[in-house]
Amino acid sequence: MQDQLKSMEAEALARLDAVQDLAALEDWRTEYLGRRGRLAQIMRGLGALPAEERPAVGQVANQVKARLEAAYEERRVALEEEAKARAFRAEAVDVTLPGRPPALGRLHIATQNLREISSIFAQMGFEVYETPEVETDEMNFQLLNIPPHHPARDMWSTFYTDREGVVLRTHTSPGQIRLMRERYPAEIRAILPGKIYRYEQVSARYEYQLHQVEGLAVGRNIHMSDLKGVLVAFAQQMFQGTRRWRFRGSYFPFTEPSFEMDIECVLCGGGGCRVCKYSGWVEILGAGMVHPVVLQNGGYDPAAYSGFAFGMGNERIAMLKYAIDDIRYFFANDPRFLAQFG
Ligand code: PHE
Repeated sequence: MQDQLKSMEAEALARLDAVQDLAALEDWRTEYLGRRGRLAQIMRGLGALPAEERPAVGQVANQVKARLEAAYEERRVALEEEAKARAFRAEAVDVTLPGRPPALGRLHIATQNLREISSIFAQMGFEVYETPEVETDEMNFQLLNIPPHHPARDMWSTFYTDREGVVLRTHTSPGQIRLMRERYPAEIRAILPGKIYRYEQVSARYEYQLHQVEGLAVGRNIHMSDLKGVLVAFAQQMFQGTRRWRFRGSYFPFTEPSFEMDIECVLCGGGGCRVCKYSGWVEILGAGMVHPVVLQNGGYDPAAYSGFAFGMGNERIAMLKYAIDDIRYFFANDPRFLAQFG
């Protein structure tokens, strides 16, 4: 039996030398040292030996077991070290490679332009006031002197919601009513920037979503000359005095009288293109003196108060400032476009 043990040990150690990975090592352990392994099998014969031989054989068996376990342990440590070293080699980072520069975020050109507009009006004493994008029909139309069947509604056809009388606002003008109702009887000088939505045939000139900046001044003795002065000062600063402008009589149900302001088209230099509809001029805003009915709806007595209002298209202004020839770029989210600003 001692011979059996010796030859089993020699075989086990030889096989251990050939073990190349941890999985094979585990098989080896099961085969020789496991509960049903070779050592255990041999030991099962112990009971058949004469009693006086058992202690000596048992001792040899224990020594064999101890040596095999030690050899196993040594091999295990060596294999684990090797595996670790292999993993380190495979996962090594080449610190000499040049890094990838992080892409810095920037404000969207529409936001940058809104902020520029706000800062120009801030210098003239206008505060910023924001109102909801989802409006009631009453605020968006009726209180602005546009009753349900008024033909002017065609100018602002919009997106309706499932809820009766709730629309996506088609202009920032409903904010006039909200602001007046909040501030009465104080005087008002504010701009109301924000996003608006229209049911629109999308083209180089028109988008179904855009930003407007509404302006509202309410007080005593506010005149058309104040409005014109403010708008000219705005245009001079926004375009650094480089663009001609003109006022053109117009109609809005919520202002009387009403007009629009045009800026000469830079895209074609006045020669005519699809953005200026071949006129050489691009309209950037509507404006006028606040209609008495609207003042009244805001809570102000038109006999004592007067006011002016305007609503400008943020993206139109940016197009003229940076010579962008298609409004659709603003919401197409193409980084090649966006990265040019900022
Ligand atoms: N709300 C108008 C529009 O969207 C613009 C406007 C605002 C006109 C205020 C006059 C006064 O077209």
